[in-house]
Amino acid sequence: MPLTRKEIIASNFGRCAQTYDRMAAIQRDSAETLAELLPDIEKPDILEIGCGTGFLTQEIIRKYPGANILVTDLSPSMVEYTKTKFTQDNIRFDVMDGENPNTDRTFDLIVSNMTFQWFENPESSIAALKKLLKPGGQIFFTSLGTNSFIEWRRTLKKLGLPEGISTGAVLPGQVHEEERFIYYPSTLSFLRSVKAIGAHMPREGYPQLNHAALKKACVIHDETFDGRHTWHIVYGTVKN
Ligand SMILES: C[S@@+](CC[C@H](N)C(=O)[O-])C[C@H]1O[C@@H](n2cnc3c(N)ncnc32)[C@H](O)[C@@H]1O
Repeated sequence: MPLTRKEIIASNFGRCAQTYDRMAAIQRDSAETLAELLPDIEKPDILEIGCGTGFLTQEIIRKYPGANILVTDLSPSMVEYTKTKFTQDNIRFDVMDGENPNTDRTFDLIVSNMTFQWFENPESSIAALKKLLKPGGQIFFTSLGTNSFIEWRRTLKKLGLPEGISTGAVLPGQVHEEERFIYYPSTLSFLRSVKAIGAHMPREGYPQLNHAALKKACVIHDETFDGRHTWHIVYGTVKN
């Protein structure tokens, strides 16, 4: 049977856990910024969704010593990788699809860094996650904003090619945003860096570009934008 879209996403990330941990600098930074927005609470119950290799996990462990933390990801390999980093008794790990949470526990905080853009239905899934919050509980997240990779999407549009790269979505509760303009040595190196961290699954319904089309788009893009690619990151919080 062919793999489902979610199984492919999980497998792509899982296979790249080591390079992700080394190379995902933007995600590491956004985890740190998100942690600065988290409230002071004594020993909260926390659910983390899409832990990856544990950038945000590290931050919440530092901020909330003694908290009960359930750390989860869609990818079993990501969970296994992160498990080896954190061995404290108050931290549990599980494989979990954040859009179909397999827990009947409730939480003071649900946190997630750069994962909601992988959801099929981010808005309705955030609404469903609210049901896992205790009274007064809050979700804190980062995700890709709608200006992400805008230059690349312009290039593809100009050439009449499908733009399968993630566009992000407008999500509820936005409190902060940042646009990071990264100049890669070339567009090919940008695309390779996305693949190296396992984040190369195109948006639903979009095929991978064939080699000739991709090469042409890279040349035009480098001429037009000098290797610039925008990472638009939104930070949000949703209350119960
Ligand atoms: C860009 S990485 C972010 C990882 C981590 N939060 C960080 O701070 O670096 C996205 C992660 O989300 C996970 N993921 C994708 N879809 C998911 C889903 N539906 N539920 C839970 N995790 C998911 C992937 O396996 C991957 O580990």
